[in-house]
Amino acid sequence: TIPNSKEPLILAIDVGTTSTRTMLFSKSSSIINKTQILYNKTPQDSNSVNLELCGKTDINNNIINCLDMLLKDLDHEKYKIVSIGIANMRESLITWDPHTLKPLSKCILWNDTRNKEIITQMRKSMSHEDLMYFRNKTGFNNISTYFSAGKLKWLLENDLKHLANSNRAINVGTVDSWILSNFTEERSFKTDVSNACRTGIFNGVSLSNDMKLMNIWNIPHTKFILNFPKIVSSSEFYGNFHIPTSHTDVIQRDRIMHWLRDVPIQGCLGDQSASLVGHLKFDPYETKMTYGTGCFILTNTGKDSNYDQNKENKLLNTVAYHFPYLNDGEITYALEGTIGQCGFLVQWLMNNIGLVDDLDALTRIFKSYNENKNVVNDDIIFVPALTGLYSPYWDDNSRGTIFGIDAKTEKRDLIIACIKGLCLQVGVILKEMFAAKKDKVLISIDGGLSQNHEFLKMQANFLDGNKYELERNVNHEATSFGAAIAAAFGTKNNSDRVMWRDIDDLKEHVNKHKETILKSKSLGDHKYSCNDDIDYLNDQYFKWDLA
Ligand code: G3P
Repeated sequence: TIPNSKEPLILAIDVGTTSTRTMLFSKSSSIINKTQILYNKTPQDSNSVNLELCGKTDINNNIINCLDMLLKDLDHEKYKIVSIGIANMRESLITWDPHTLKPLSKCILWNDTRNKEIITQMRKSMSHEDLMYFRNKTGFNNISTYFSAGKLKWLLENDLKHLANSNRAINVGTVDSWILSNFTEERSFKTDVSNACRTGIFNGVSLSNDMKLMNIWNIPHTKFILNFPKIVSSSEFYGNFHIPTSHTDVIQRDRIMHWLRDVPIQGCLGDQSASLVGHLKFDPYETKMTYGTGCFILTNTGKDSNYDQNKENKLLNTVAYHFPYLNDGEITYALEGTIGQCGFLVQWLMNNIGLVDDLDALTRIFKSYNENKNVVNDDIIFVPALTGLYSPYWDDNSRGTIFGIDAKTEKRDLIIACIKGLCLQVGVILKEMFAAKKDKVLISIDGGLSQNHEFLKMQANFLDGNKYELERNVNHEATSFGAAIAAAFGTKNNSDRVMWRDIDDLKEHVNKHKETILKSKSLGDHKYSCNDDIDYLNDQYFKWDLA
C-alpha cells in the first residue's frame, strides 16, 4: 500500500543499441525524470559490434549509473516507485557462468555480421525441407546474421571453443535474461516471449525452443552444456530488484536501494514490442515505426500468428507481447519490417565519412531539399546496406552502393541520396506489409529521427498519400513507456494495480494527458500527409528494385 500523499511511479530501464536509458512515468504518462548513458563503441573491424560486459562501461554499470543519476534528487516525500519494466535490444547474445554470473563472452550485438561466411555456407547447403521448416516455425525468411542462434554458433566455434567437452555449463541468453539474472534477488534466468521469438531456435507454433531448429543452425549442442532461459510472459513477477553482488560501490548501492528495495520487476519486452505497446497499438492493423539505430515497423496482427503459412516471409512474423492478466490473456502477434541502418546511417554520414558535421547542418540540407527539390540531383540512388539488407531482401552479403554520380555531384546530393535510401526502404516495407489493405493506414512514429520535422517531411514525400499518414507520437519515449505499461499489468488482480486497472483505463489517462500537451503546443507539425505524386513515387521504387 502507498500512503495517499505519495504519487506512484513506474521505472523503465531500456538497454538499447546505442545507449542505456532509465525513466520514471506517472499515471498520465508524464516523464518525471529521465537519464541516458551513450556507449562509446569502437568497432574492431567492419563486421564486429560488441558491448563490454565487465569493466567501467558494461551493461550492468550503465544501468546502475543511470539509476543513480535518475534517483539522486527525487523527492522521497512526494513519490513512490511501485514497479519496474525492462525493454531491451533484441537478438543480441550474451553467455555467462551460471554460478558466478561472470560473462564468458562480450555481448554480440544484433547488427554484428562476423558470422557472415558461416551463414552464407549454411544457406547454400540447407535443404528445401529444412528451409520450409525454418520459415514456418520461426516466422523468418531464412537463417541470417541477425538472429541470436547464428551468433551462438559463431561463439561456440571461436571464442568459446575451449569449453567444448569441458563439462562446464554455459548460460546463453538475450539481454533481457542477462538483466533479469543480474538484477533480481532470485537471479531469475528467464526470457520473455517477445525476446525468445527472435533467437531463431524458438518455434512460434509450439511456443518453445525446438531441437530441430537447433540442428538446422548446426549448433554443436552435444559438445557443450548449454542452459537456455525459461520462456515466460512479458508481464508478470520476475523477482524483486537487487543490485548485482559484484558491484562494489556500497554507497551507490544504498542510494539506489533506498528507492528500489522490494520493488518488483514486472515488465519485460523486446524494445520494438515495447514501443508498439507504448504507442498504445493494441488492436489489429495498428502500426508503429521507430527510427532508432535501425528502423523497425510493426503492425499488430492480433491473435493471428501468421506462422505455418508455407510461403516466403519477406517480413518477420513475431510475437508482439504476452500480457497474461489482461483480457483473454492470449499472446498478441505482429508483422515486422526491419531496416538495419537508420540512426546508424546518420552517425556514419557524420562520423565515418564526415560528409556533414552535425544534425543542424543535416537538417538544413533536408530543408533545402524539401523547399526546392531542383537544387539536389535526385537521380542518385544510394543503397545504404552497411551491414547487409534486412526486410524484404534478407541479403547478409550486400553492401552499400551508389548509382548515378556525375561530374556535377555535390556532397549534399550524396547526403540526400543516402537518406532517400532509408525513406525508400520504409516505402518498400509498407507496400509489402499493407498490400492487401484498402483503407488508409495511420502510422505512429517515434525514435531519434522522428524529432526532425524536415526529415519527416522528406519521408512523407516518399510515401503514397492515398494510403499512409504519419503521426508523431507526443510521447516520443514510447519504448520506455511500453516497458512501464507491461510492469503496470504484471499483477493478476486488477485491484492490486496501482497505475491503471486495464487498457481502457490506461488510454483514458494517457489521452487526457495528450490533449493537454496538444492544446499547449501548436498542432502544426504533428501529422504528416504523404505524397500524391504516385508516378514519381513508383519511379523511385522501380529504381530501388533495380538496386
Ligand atoms: O532488433 C534490434 C532492435 O531491437 C534494436 O533496437 O532501438 O536499439 O535500434 P534499437
